[in-house]
Parts: sequence; C-alpha cells; structure tokens
Amino acid sequence: MPNPPLGNLTAEQFLADYWQKKPLLIRQAVTQFDWLPGLDELVALAGRDDVESRLVELRNGKWSCESGPFRPSRFKKLAASDWTVLVQNMNHHQAFCAELLYRFDFIPQVRLDDLMISYAPAGGGVGPHFDSYDVFLLQVGGRKRWRISSQDDLELVDGAPLKILERFVPEQEWELEHGDMLYLPPRYAHEGVALEAGMTWSVGFRAPTAQELGGAFLDYLRDRIELPGLYADPDLAAVSEPARLPDDFVARVAQMLNGIRWGEAEVRDFIGRYFSEPKAHVFYDSPDDELDEDDFAAAVARHGVALDLKSAMLFDGDRVYINGDTLDAEPAALPALRELANRRRLPPADYPAEAVEALYACYEYGYLAPGGE
Ligand code: SIN
Ligand code: CO
Repeated sequence: MPNPPLGNLTAEQFLADYWQKKPLLIRQAVTQFDWLPGLDELVALAGRDDVESRLVELRNGKWSCESGPFRPSRFKKLAASDWTVLVQNMNHHQAFCAELLYRFDFIPQVRLDDLMISYAPAGGGVGPHFDSYDVFLLQVGGRKRWRISSQDDLELVDGAPLKILERFVPEQEWELEHGDMLYLPPRYAHEGVALEAGMTWSVGFRAPTAQELGGAFLDYLRDRIELPGLYADPDLAAVSEPARLPDDFVARVAQMLNGIRWGEAEVRDFIGRYFSEPKAHVFYDSPDDELDEDDFAAAVARHGVALDLKSAMLFDGDRVYINGDTLDAEPAALPALRELANRRRLPPADYPAEAVEALYACYEYGYLAPGGE
C-alpha cells in the first residue's frame, strides 16, 4: 500500500498538527495517475442513473444547481466558462479512484466518505462556501486559484440553490497545479476558480450529525426491542372526566417504556451495520456465470479476492459487517476476513475452509470477486 499522500508529513504528524485544526497545502502530493479522465468520460458518467452528479452554473450573477443524470446534449448548451460538473462516489466506479481514496485510510474507514471529481473550464467554480466536513482538494490537470478564510461569519446567501457565503473575506490564496493538494478542516471558508480547464478530486469525510445518528439508532432499536407485558389496571377507579389522561395511566406507560434499554453492545452493532450500509444508488450484481464453491476456492487460491468497489466492510472484535449486515463467520475465518476489510483485497493463498465459506456467501451477493492480486 503506498504511503498517505501527505508530502513530507507522516500520518501521525498530519493528524497532530492539521487534522480538524488548520489548512495545509501540499505541493505535488500525488504525481502518478493511472487513470486521467477526459471531459467526455465524466459526461458519460454524469449520464448514468447509478451515478450521482450535479451541474453548477453561474449565469448573469445567478447560481443554479441541477442534479443528474444528464444527457450529453446538456453539455453542448453550456457557456465557455462559469460552470462545473461534479461526479460523486467516483471510488465506486473507477478502481484508481478507489485506490487513491484508500490511500487516506490512515483515517478509519467509518470516517472516509468518497472521492468526488469536478471538472470546470477556465472561470468555473462553485462559489465561496464552507463544507461541514474535512476535505482534501487535489488538483488534477489545469490550474485553479483557491482562496480561503478562517472567518467566523458563515452566513449564507438566502434562497440560493447551493451554499454561497454572503460575505467572503479571503485571507490566503494559492494557485494549485496538477498534483497539488489543499487540506481544509470542517467549516473553513473557501473558493476555487479554475484558471485553466481542469479537475478537482475531493476526498470527503463522513461527519454525521447527532440528529442523524439518533434517528438511525432509534430505527435500529425499533427493529430489535422485545418488551414484555401488556397494560393492566386491576385497581382502576371510576372517573368523572373520562377524556382526561389519568396520571396513573401515564406513570404505567412511562414504566413500560423504561424497558427500552441499550448498552455498548447495541451501539457497536448499530455502528457496524449503519456505517457499512450502501448509499442510495448502490446495487450489487450477482455474478453472471456463478462459480460453485470448489471452483471459487480454487480461483481465490490462484488469484486472491477483491471487494467490489461499492462494498463496505468493517469489523469489531469477532463481528464482521459487510454492506449493512453481519457476516456469519467461524473464528478460523476471522484473520482473512479482517485482512480483507482492512486492505479491500486478499492475496492468492490457501485460506481456511471457514474463510472460503464466508467469502463465497459474499461472492454470491456480488460483494466481492476472485482476482485483484
Ligand atoms: C469543486 O470541486 O469545485 C468544489 C470542491 C469544494 O469546494 O469542496
Ligand atoms: Co468545498
């Protein structure tokens, strides 16, 4: 696995001095690109309905933001400048994008979100704004001027279709060239304007709100609670105001609801499932010519195995999670499954039968496939 693309810094130095603290510019952070898309390739991706894309335009001083999929003809109608097309979750669609995203996995995978690619002609940008999460902005081809500000005033233009700062007071400015990368902590004001047509590849992070987590955790609990008992009131007394909520009824219901309990085990299990759940738009295809388990075992021994680009796999102690579910696995399977989760692939080897069995179950769902050595 290549080192994190942090220039001369180690992951430890970066986390101690910059992560969630202050911006960092790294010249020539990534110099080797195994895949460099042209605009036509991005336009083709933005035309697919399993790919999330947006088109941002600034016309006569007014911002607009459309969601894909887009017909190729939509791009013929654009002005020579002042637009940006953005394609999200590129790591689900292109192996090199996934490889680049996972070069940032010195940060736990539960915190990694996606790699997004934006393309803008000279003059294009998405306006001054802030993001709620950390971001690495990697320049790929072309040149972009980035201006940033530590301002506390994060008021947004009212009614705009995307987040645009009402007042932006830039404090620092850089021109990024191919391979240069800018890290910004959450809520740091910034604005990028292309000086020459090119791309920004953004590595984004996942920072759920307490409200999102609370709602999702309550959904998790609802599917699992088993509360005993049935309301009973053998001591009921006659009432003169039948519509009034009786205090003892309220007290008994409160006591029944008090049976809803959870502890660390439930929180851990919730996290494993929730943070490996597929995003909207994501579907897995079962293999076309499905191998039987013996042929699958032979293929894994010869070629190794790789997670599908869209798969998310996590583990917690003896529990393994893949794409929102637990994976039943015998203890002898765990070392291989943990390595697969960490590295997203396993090298060719003779794995224990227990591991092959668990891998085969995932293979049948299209979560992984032999190969990728
Ligand atoms: C862009 O790719 O142009 C915008 C990325 C960002 O500002 O977060
Ligand atoms: Co941004």
